[in-house]
Amino acid sequence: MKKTFFVTTPIYYGSGLPHLGSFYSTLLADVLARWHKLQGYEVYFLTGTDEHGQKIAEKAQQEGKTPQDLVDEYAKAYKNLWREYDIEYTKFIRTTDLEHKKAVKALAHLLFEKGDIYKGEYTGWYCTPCETFVPSNATADQEGPVCPSCGRATRFMTEPCYFFRLSAYQERLLAFFKQNPDFIVPKERANEVVAFIEAGLKDLSISRSTITWGIPFPDDPEHVIYVWLDALTNYISAIGYADATRVAEFNHWWPVDVHVIGKDIVRFHAVYWLAFLMAAELPLPKHELVHGWIVVEGQKMSKSRGNVVDPVQLKELYGVDGVRYYLTSRMAITQDASFSIADLEKVISQDLANELGNLLNRMAVLAQKYDALSLPVIKGWSPQSIALCDAGKHMTQLARDYLNTYQFHLAYAEVKRFTALVNSYVHEREPWVQAGTDKQAFIETLSAVSHSLQLIAHVLWPVMPRSMEKMMRALGKSLLNGADVFKELVAWDKSFTLMVVPPLFAKVEGVFADLQKTEEAQTNKAVASDSVKAETAGVIDIADFVKVQLVAGTIIHAEMVPNSDKLLKLQVNCGVHGMRQILAGIKLHYKPEDLIGQQGIFVLNLKPRKLLGLESQGMLLCAVEAGGKTVFLRPSQPINDGSGVR
Ligand code: MSP
Repeated sequence: MKKTFFVTTPIYYGSGLPHLGSFYSTLLADVLARWHKLQGYEVYFLTGTDEHGQKIAEKAQQEGKTPQDLVDEYAKAYKNLWREYDIEYTKFIRTTDLEHKKAVKALAHLLFEKGDIYKGEYTGWYCTPCETFVPSNATADQEGPVCPSCGRATRFMTEPCYFFRLSAYQERLLAFFKQNPDFIVPKERANEVVAFIEAGLKDLSISRSTITWGIPFPDDPEHVIYVWLDALTNYISAIGYADATRVAEFNHWWPVDVHVIGKDIVRFHAVYWLAFLMAAELPLPKHELVHGWIVVEGQKMSKSRGNVVDPVQLKELYGVDGVRYYLTSRMAITQDASFSIADLEKVISQDLANELGNLLNRMAVLAQKYDALSLPVIKGWSPQSIALCDAGKHMTQLARDYLNTYQFHLAYAEVKRFTALVNSYVHEREPWVQAGTDKQAFIETLSAVSHSLQLIAHVLWPVMPRSMEKMMRALGKSLLNGADVFKELVAWDKSFTLMVVPPLFAKVEGVFADLQKTEEAQTNKAVASDSVKAETAGVIDIADFVKVQLVAGTIIHAEMVPNSDKLLKLQVNCGVHGMRQILAGIKLHYKPEDLIGQQGIFVLNLKPRKLLGLESQGMLLCAVEAGGKTVFLRPSQPINDGSGVR
């Protein structure tokens, strides 16, 4: 029987487009899935979208769509991106799938019957966008807290709801973490979890009666199951939990080998999820791999901060494999990692184009030139080649150990070191000289390099499947797999039929700067044609102007701000930049209903500020006459929301 490997990603909220952060989690899971496939495991790779809850219902309403239409759109966007990036998942689960809904109901029913779920009442400060009660001692007549995760105002609410008896699992959870210190990778993150449990677990509210877009509670449809019980259950609903016809399938895959998650959702996975599983008397996951955030300019990438890096654009500029390699080889999963274009360009140009791609290319071209594309099995390697072979074995061992413990960047650092060694081997042996002086040594050099490249191609295949398959084709081979794949690869007893192929990787240093220069040149040209002379005092340079992020957006919702003479609160769809709440001082000039559906021009990179307790995340541009007449600016024709204004 084949060994199995089951890996999951978080399921992403179905209310927005995928970004580099969601791609990162998915990529790590894909690399792990492929790494195990390569070694002959039977693999299940689960990903999907989290499609219920208030936020999604509100967004759909703002966009004039049904929630189902909205989540259908975004699920498609995720699937498309995963396909473009060669993410080879087994199943894409959606929490609106019928099988999932059935499983969630079955789980809730079981826990209710067992007494682990009971009906009570919840009172507290609630953050609607985050769908969570925010702990606070403030009473209803006082000012409530702002939400710690999104910074927005909360409102006081009391509602009957169902609770999960989390408090009853405190001791079992602590015992579990004590017995399984390696459960969370990296280990250090377990400390936070244990501290949270030790601080005392309160029962967890798991239903809402204020929401309709969700899975109804069994036998009490006034309540819908709150997103986390719903969402976490995807990990078992996908493989047939509570489906009498799929018992064998469920038992085949569960428990999961590893849940890949970002550090923001550890508590849900390492406390709530484990407790739900304990209550359902199901085996617990084997590991949870927690990665840090990708940060851009020191901040977590997020739509509301407007610092989202678009994976589609990256792929177009740098290619799928370049981006995949950069993210896994340069970002240590243990901590937050800074994303930088300059770095990405350097890594692709050096590691991939210069060191690896070039090595293959030089060998194949030499082989062709000296009529040595067919390389026989070598009998009797020279000590120099044996040393290289040993280095390859050593690299393989280290890389395997690192990959098996999820330390991608360390594994790929070993491959990089070995590649450098192969390059020095070539340099020392000078095959271009050997070709004329010692044909046998020449063939040996080519063969040693081919064996080395074949090994590298396999270790790197999980991260760069497309290019490494091309590399194997250039060596006249196809990818091997199976339990003994590495034993076979380090044996150095193969013949090869080389082929000259176009370079696998391009040097990309400066690609982004060139793009910016082109865009800048276009802007400058436009400015120059106006023959504006920047001589007057107070004149700013174009570089100053472009710092202001101006974007076209549609006002989806507008309402008066209570207790304010001037302010209207707008919800604005800024396309790829997401939704923004913007306060505009135009109450005297416009009625809210006149604004809804209108496009305007907005400044998006102003520091958010609070007005009357409400956050404004941008500014609507208006023209103001000396007498005070105020009109807002809008594009002369409809244009895609999110389009930049230059
Ligand atoms: N729907 C929940 C998860 C439910 S899982 C049962 C959710 N969704 S999410 O769309 O917000 O995606 C969260 C995950 O995306 C994070 O846990 C993390 O894995 C990944 N990332 C989102 N932003 C990220 C970065 N800036 N950097 C790295 N990963 C990030 O939470």
